[in-house]
Amino acid sequence: AVPTRRLLHGAQIPAIGVGTWPLDDAQSERVVADALQAGYRLVDTAENYRNETGVGRGLKASGVERSEVFVTSKFNKRWHGKDLVRPAAERSLESLGLEYLDLLLIHWPNPSQDRYLEAWEGLVDLLESGLVKAIGTSNFKQSHLERIIAATQVAPDVNQIQLSPAATRSSVRTFHTEHGILTESWSPIGGKDTEVLSAPAVLEIARAVERTPAQVVLRWHVQLGLVPIPKSANPERLRQNLQVFDFELSEQQVHELSALDQGESVVADSDAFGH
Ligand code: A2P
Repeated sequence: AVPTRRLLHGAQIPAIGVGTWPLDDAQSERVVADALQAGYRLVDTAENYRNETGVGRGLKASGVERSEVFVTSKFNKRWHGKDLVRPAAERSLESLGLEYLDLLLIHWPNPSQDRYLEAWEGLVDLLESGLVKAIGTSNFKQSHLERIIAATQVAPDVNQIQLSPAATRSSVRTFHTEHGILTESWSPIGGKDTEVLSAPAVLEIARAVERTPAQVVLRWHVQLGLVPIPKSANPERLRQNLQVFDFELSEQQVHELSALDQGESVVADSDAFGH
């Protein structure tokens, strides 16, 4: 079984999950069912991925009990309002065919719209309702986190950010740790824009530990206390990515991987995104 970690507001999150972007409904139904049968217990989707219906079908098709699975979704900027977050959650639940979410995230801060604080206040209210077991943010910078925490005295359970050996985000990670916020890594093996999996240091460590480059990189996340959510549409790679709890990297190897850092995330500033 995948180990779990305890979040700030008490929920238990599996130490690795399966991402579903950019899978469509049909693909995500297949991938989610396959992932759960392979042993994954965390599934990550979003309103913006337009695949919640497929993800929900995959959850049902897997035969795995709802209570055994940690389901995350995220809402778009049109719901950034104190009284809009509940309808946002209800919309996701309807699409997924579920009664509650394990984790709901503000997908992007969208600072030019400047309503992420209201969205956060709405999430804090929603947590009390029981419709969601944990609340968080995605793609928030330290300044955004500081603002919502100062205003509400409530820190997110999770901030999900783009993070890989090529973008280690050490400063925001330190802030997370100080506030008890768990870091989730999206595009944890570097996504399509970097060459993490072919970096000489990764290949060398992979040879040394007799694992694939992707397993080495995912193990690096796990040892740093991050929760990676790799996506693979390929059944063999999907299974491979979960097999990272039966070997260990040395401190030196972790350090060598962290040294691949290229500075700021490859992802453009948050206002370029958001929906
Ligand atoms: P595929 O879906 O064909 O497996 P990230 O989650 O970091 O954004 O990376 C996703 C990309 O990495 C996808 O293109 C995915 O392709 C590929 N990928 C996922 N798992 C592996 C793996 N174990 N080895 C190589 N590539 C992988």
